[in-house]
Amino acid sequence: MAYHDQVVDQVQSLNDIVEIISAYIPLKRAGRNFKANCPFHNEKTPSFIVNPDKQIFHCFGCGVGGDVFSFLMKYEQMNFPEALKRLAERVHVTLPEPKSSSPRERSLIDRVYQICSAAADFYRANLKHAEIGKQAREYLAKRDFGAEEMNTFSLGFAMGEWRTLYEFLSKKGFQEQELLRSGLIVRSAQGSPYDLFRNRIIFPILNAQGKVIAFGGRVMGDEMPKYLNSPETPIFRKRKEMYSLHLAKRAIASSEVRRILIVEGYLDSIRLYSSGFQNVVATLGTSLTQEHVQVLKRYADEAVVLFDGDKAGEQASLRGLEIFLEEGMGVKVLCLPKGFDPDDFIRSKGREAMAELLKQAQDVFDFKLQVLMGRYNKADSMGLLKITSEFLDTFSKIKNPVLVDRYLRKLAVTLGVEESSLRSELNKLKSRQGSLKSIRPVLKSQTPEEKSEPQVEKLLLGLMFHYPPYVRLFSESLPNYSFLGEKTREIFNYLSQVTREQDDLKLSALKLLNRIKDEKLKTFASELFMMSNWGVSQDREQAFRDLLGTLKKQEKTQRLKSLRNKISQAEESGNQELVLEYMKAYQEILGQTE
Ligand code: UTP
Ligand code: MN
Repeated sequence: MAYHDQVVDQVQSLNDIVEIISAYIPLKRAGRNFKANCPFHNEKTPSFIVNPDKQIFHCFGCGVGGDVFSFLMKYEQMNFPEALKRLAERVHVTLPEPKSSSPRERSLIDRVYQICSAAADFYRANLKHAEIGKQAREYLAKRDFGAEEMNTFSLGFAMGEWRTLYEFLSKKGFQEQELLRSGLIVRSAQGSPYDLFRNRIIFPILNAQGKVIAFGGRVMGDEMPKYLNSPETPIFRKRKEMYSLHLAKRAIASSEVRRILIVEGYLDSIRLYSSGFQNVVATLGTSLTQEHVQVLKRYADEAVVLFDGDKAGEQASLRGLEIFLEEGMGVKVLCLPKGFDPDDFIRSKGREAMAELLKQAQDVFDFKLQVLMGRYNKADSMGLLKITSEFLDTFSKIKNPVLVDRYLRKLAVTLGVEESSLRSELNKLKSRQGSLKSIRPVLKSQTPEEKSEPQVEKLLLGLMFHYPPYVRLFSESLPNYSFLGEKTREIFNYLSQVTREQDDLKLSALKLLNRIKDEKLKTFASELFMMSNWGVSQDREQAFRDLLGTLKKQEKTQRLKSLRNKISQAEESGNQELVLEYMKAYQEILGQTE
């Protein structure tokens, strides 16, 4: 994902870094700069500097730094597009569509969509076919799924032969390469293509926009594996998609409560849907992920997670549920009676019973408490410790303080302990987590390779940032200079490239910084930037010339040293001619003034 540099520049120029940062931490004026205690590591005296002229920040304690985007990315743990979006919204700049996938990728993506759509038609026709679909229809009927479900969910059937879909799609003009990318056609060890789904009931998986993106397939008996799912493809990611979301989303839109039901199986969601609970989705054979929750948050305010009445469900659930809390989405839990999944339950007890059961969905807190109380004994001190520490761990991730307050009070009452002691434990835990976070950048900035960037080169690059024409000037005066530092070399290469492409007089330092996409390099560049303030151009000129002189001298020493080596090597091998040649070069360099 990439945006045009002009947009990035525009968004940056409209967002003052001092304004942005001071919304997070208190800044104090200190001369031309602002100071604060660094939010990225623990410190008592402020070494975090914000420079309004250059619109950058830098911490001399832990080494973090960068521009307004870098700050948001670090502080809010965002990626670049998210930070850009946030800042663009703040100043009412409309972002153009990002330069997305290349035309070639785009057309592959389109082709895979077309393949999925054609395959869905093919499978559906099979299921409707008098003979081909007979057994599958009978299986579904036996499980109490009829024409209505088949239509609403576009159910299908894949025949038992090896290549019916392959042949169908090939005739439609799809190339083997494309078919392989769709995941529906696979290759045997011998290299011949065949259908992934054979002799299975087919469940097309649609994205939120209602386009077919993948499939699930169930055998009609008890063979293993019971279900097969499409692999990840350019248009299908299991960790993000949910079965039947396009239908649930519609149902929620026309309902007063923005609640979504989450189940584990295809057939559970189909059963719930056709029993009048249309606000239901199923995960696709994975546990709930953060991406799932972020998607669901768009459509619903509260989730009810339904678990099959077995232990496995309970175990998995605790982790999944925390994601809702972290993402700030309400969540309740419903455990079905032992031996039932939602489909079994509705079939044997009816939809009214299901409606009743849903009313009893537990708050995630009570659910967790119940699970933990079953696992540990709160009467023995070890058990009590386990229960509290698991809870505090969860609480430390909840972003909403009101919710934390309520839960703390409830936990104290339930366990019969002092609320204040729970609270102080929680605070300790949080500061431990916080300090762990802040130690990392400090440690990182002290690795030897990062300390080894030569000071002269750093100063020189700092000057180039302030005054881009120096890049060209430098290349002209020292055309063969090879940077000793790894990062200084990278930065210089990048500066040369940008200044080659654009009129260097029009390049502002800010723009230069903006073009650096690698955050580490950006931090380094911001440090160079901060090293000195070249307000007066005379000082700057002098500094540049001095540095150039130093580097020339350095280069000269280097070249002389290498010539001395070559001379002694040539002497050893007895090559007098070569010795003389090197000597001459040596004299020449020595004779050069400067
Ligand atoms: P279940 O084993 O609970 O099956 O798997 P189910 O949905 O109740 O199906 P029926 O009622 O036996 O037909 C729940 C979900 O886990 C995934 C599927 O997404 C399934 O819907 N799963 C299960 C697989 O991906 N592969 C399997 O082999 C089994
Ligand atoms: Mn089932």
